[in-house]
Amino acid sequence: MTYLVTDACVKCKFMDCVEVCPVDCFYEGENFLVISPDDCIDCGVCEPECPVDAIKPDTQDEPDGKWLKINTDYARLWPNITVKGEPPADRADYEQETGKFEKHFSPRPG
Ligand code: SF4
Ligand code: F3S
Repeated sequence: MTYLVTDACVKCKFMDCVEVCPVDCFYEGENFLVISPDDCIDCGVCEPECPVDAIKPDTQDEPDGKWLKINTDYARLWPNITVKGEPPADRADYEQETGKFEKHFSPRPG
């Protein structure tokens, strides 16, 4: 099992999750973070830290494993992040929006 970062993180990227992870398994894109499923020890500590509830156990993934694939793929491409950075200034504009991955996701590294 692993935890996964999901749609609510896109464009919000609070980064309250990164410093609590005991195995440093968050990776940073331009407007999204992912967890490395290969390294996550399933401790669950990060889940309540996210203000927009973007972090979910893989038991709550889409039936086709959408978020497992996204987290796995981008954890291999993006840089590791262990220290909280500055969240986007306009994050409040996106907190209520859904389907953000399809509309706003950037594959560029953070
Ligand atoms: Fe890190 Fe634990 Fe969250 Fe996995 S569940 S990403 S190990 S804090
Ligand atoms: Fe994203 Fe929530 Fe972390 S918005 S960066 S998963 S605290």
